Amino acid sequence: MHVGARVVLAFLPSKRPWSTSLRGTSIKGMTITFITGANKGLGRETARRLIECGHTVLVGARQREQGEEAAAALGARYVPIDVTDDESVAAAAANVAAHEGLIDVLINNAGVHGPVGDPSDLTAADALSVLDVNVIGVVRTTTAFLPLLRLSDAPAIVNVSSGMGSLALTHDPGRPESHVVAPLYTASKAALTMLTTQYAKGLKGIRVNAADPGYTATDLNGHSGPQTVTEGTDAIVALATEEPGAGSGRFISRHGELAWS
Ligand SMILES: NC(=O)c1ccc[n+]([C@@H]2O[C@H](COP(=O)([O-])OP(=O)(O)OC[C@H]3O[C@@H](n4cnc5c(N)ncnc54)[C@H](OP(=O)(O)O)[C@@H]3O)[C@@H](O)[C@H]2O)c1
Repeated sequence: MHVGARVVLAFLPSKRPWSTSLRGTSIKGMTITFITGANKGLGRETARRLIECGHTVLVGARQREQGEEAAAALGARYVPIDVTDDESVAAAAANVAAHEGLIDVLINNAGVHGPVGDPSDLTAADALSVLDVNVIGVVRTTTAFLPLLRLSDAPAIVNVSSGMGSLALTHDPGRPESHVVAPLYTASKAALTMLTTQYAKGLKGIRVNAADPGYTATDLNGHSGPQTVTEGTDAIVALATEEPGAGSGRFISRHGELAWS
């Protein structure tokens, strides 16, 4: 057992009365999954589908009313979290520690697109706000939830990235990603895919992978995407439900593995 886990276990109530052990996902259907930005769009659909698969889902959302509504509608528990706020993220991890005691899967889904238009108009504040959610928010959330993940027998992190962060796809004229100019969003997702591979190398014993949902109709893009949210969550759900030995450091879409560069 991880040394840190011993310390945490000493102070955390067991919220897994069904398990003979405090650790792990040994009993099928008892996977505990925390999703950021799960009040709408791809996060909410991921929550719905994982509940259908038997996961216990924690709906992370920054707006209480929307989060509570989504959780009630889906049969999940709402946990307040604003991924740009250290205190909020720490409180979310403490909330889960007190209620569930651990998580098996962390889905870093919360994201913003940021400004569109002439790149000459971009400001430092624009850049900071997009990176704060899409990249730094993932670091904040991952660091805060690692002690809870390390109590799982099969911990996994799924980062919801994008083909828009792929150098290969944004330079392939046959791909829709090549027709978009969105410097901050693409840079943030490129950073997130790299963050994923680095976490995969450095976080021993934790499966860390990235999903590209594909262009999906959500509020993020004014519902212009051709895919439904169910299609858009195929890769996320696959990474959240695959076998523990499935591998780390991968970037997949619903059509298979994607190039990083
Ligand atoms: N839709 C696509 O075509 C597409 C393609 C590739 C990747 N993605 C990625 O998929 C993820 C989900 O996006 P979506 O398309 O489902 O968009 P969406 O419907 O706009 O949902 C975004 C979610 O992120 C939440 N969020 C934003 N800032 C947050 C913060 N500071 N703290 C906590 N939550 C925050 C939003 O909460 P509020 O409701 O409070 O704003 C919302 O729940 C994003 O990471 C996005 O980049 C989307």
